[in-house]
This record gives sequence, structure tokens and C-alpha cells, in this order.
Amino acid sequence: MNDQEFNYLKRHILSSTGIDIDSYKSVQMRRRLTTLVENTSGANVLGYCKELDKESDVLAKLRNFLTINVTEFFRDEGVFVELKKRILTNIISNTRRLKIWSAGCSNGAEAYTISMILADYPEIVSYSILGTDIDELSLGIARAGGPYTVDLLKNVPASCMNKHFICKDGKYWVKAELKAHTTFKPHNLLSDFFVKDFDMILCRNVTIYFTDEAKEKLNRGFNDSLKANGILFIGSTEFMSRPEAVGFKKLSPCFYQKIPVYAGARA
Ligand SMILES: C[S@@+](CC[C@H](N)C(=O)[O-])C[C@H]1O[C@@H](n2cnc3c(N)ncnc32)[C@H](O)[C@@H]1O
Repeated sequence: MNDQEFNYLKRHILSSTGIDIDSYKSVQMRRRLTTLVENTSGANVLGYCKELDKESDVLAKLRNFLTINVTEFFRDEGVFVELKKRILTNIISNTRRLKIWSAGCSNGAEAYTISMILADYPEIVSYSILGTDIDELSLGIARAGGPYTVDLLKNVPASCMNKHFICKDGKYWVKAELKAHTTFKPHNLLSDFFVKDFDMILCRNVTIYFTDEAKEKLNRGFNDSLKANGILFIGSTEFMSRPEAVGFKKLSPCFYQKIPVYAGARA
């Protein structure tokens, strides 16, 4: 795909999906899109864009391709041990009413993981978890609380299985009590308005294809959305290169705490 074709394709994708490809790492995205166009329309970008306008399944495949929504419950289970031992104890010492955001929540496995963990703290008076994503199909599963295949549940502690899941025809669904704490909404992290006043934001395994510029803007936005001393929880393969520059103190590779007032804070 030459530069002209790539630029044409990017504009077409933005108008049909609302996803701005310029916020994703260019080399990887171009390589992946080239393969997608080749497999759909034999390397013909114009032909691919026409199919995109006509065929809803081509558009659905593109969305699916751009969003990479692999997830599971208790993904990287070790970090949840750290969350319970170190991070939550600290948050709960400040507030008993928790407001959490799972940003890029995919099918809700991450939001429900947090819900299962918080359900075990009798001292928490109330908690709400907002799950957001750009992928409507995944959000549909999240809102319904399933169906989840058994492979997504391999890290779920035995004590949580009966307590929080129902099995029907070999597929798993979360129980209503767990769902009651969650809300799922469409939201594009690269362009939409951020809600405020969260005690913790999880944004894990979402930004791997974002440019450094897009990541920095996102981290500033997260900082703005957290309460003083709030926590940003990122994926174990991601890292923040200059946390202080965007108002965070690094607590460990996956956990960053908002510095209440920092030089770059928005007025
Ligand atoms: C690999 S999944 C991660 C799910 C979950 N956070 C986890 O770690 O298991 C990445 C999710 O990010 C979402 N995503 C990608 N770009 C996004 C954007 N610009 N705004 C919101 N969500 C986005 C995808 O749709 C996908 O569901």
C-alpha cells in the first residue's frame, strides 16, 4: 500500500468507524491493514473502501480487527494479589464508597474481576464500576454478563466460581448481584470526554498500538479524571516512561498514583 492509498484508507476508516488511525503506531498499523485489505479485496484499497460502505460484515470485521479484544477474568493474576495487599487497603483507608473505571473493558471480564474482588470487602459501603470500550459487540456481552467460555475463567479462584457464576449449556454468566455494580457504555479513549472523580482507573492492554503522543495525552486525561491520590492500573506489558510529567508517582510496574497537584495540571 503506497502513502496515498494509506492516507485515503485512514480517512475512510475515520469516517466509517470514528477511529483515528493516526493515533496508532504507524508502521504496525500499516502492516496489519495491508494484510487485512489483501485478504478482503486483493490489495485494492479503493475496492476495499467500497466494500466497507456496502457490506456490514466487512465493517464489523474491520472494527473487530482494530480493537483486538482478547481478555480473561483475573488476567495476569499476580497483579491482583498486589492490588488486594497494597493498593486497595490504601484506597479503602480514604474512602468506603469506591468509583472505578475499566477503560477498554472488552467483554467486561476485567470489570467483573474487580467487582468480585470488592465484593469480599465488608468495610466497603458501596462501589460502582464503569466499563467502556469502542467495540459494541464486546459491550453487548459485558452488559448481558455473558456468555463466557470456560477458558476465560481459568484464573478465577474456586471460591468465586459458585458464588458469582451460573453455568448454562457449558457457557458461564455472571450473577445479577455482581452485575448490579456495573454499567457499560461506548467510549473512544482517543476522542471522547472523560468522566471524573474515580478512585481507580484500569486501562490494561489497550494502548499497545497507540503512539507515544496519544498515550501521553491519554495519561493526562486519566490523571484529570482521578480523585487526589487515585490509582491508575495499567497492563503488565505496558509502562509509563515519564510518570511525573503527566502527574503520576510510580508505585510498581502496574500501579501509578496521582500526585494531587502537579505543575502540568489543567486549570
Ligand atoms: C486487549 S483488550 C483489553 C481488555 C482488558 N482491558 C484486559 O486487559 O483484559 C483491548 C480493548 O481495548 C479496546 N480499545 C482499543 N482502542 C480503543 C479506544 N480508542 N477507545 C476505547 N477502547 C479501545 C478494544 O476494543 C479492546 O476491547
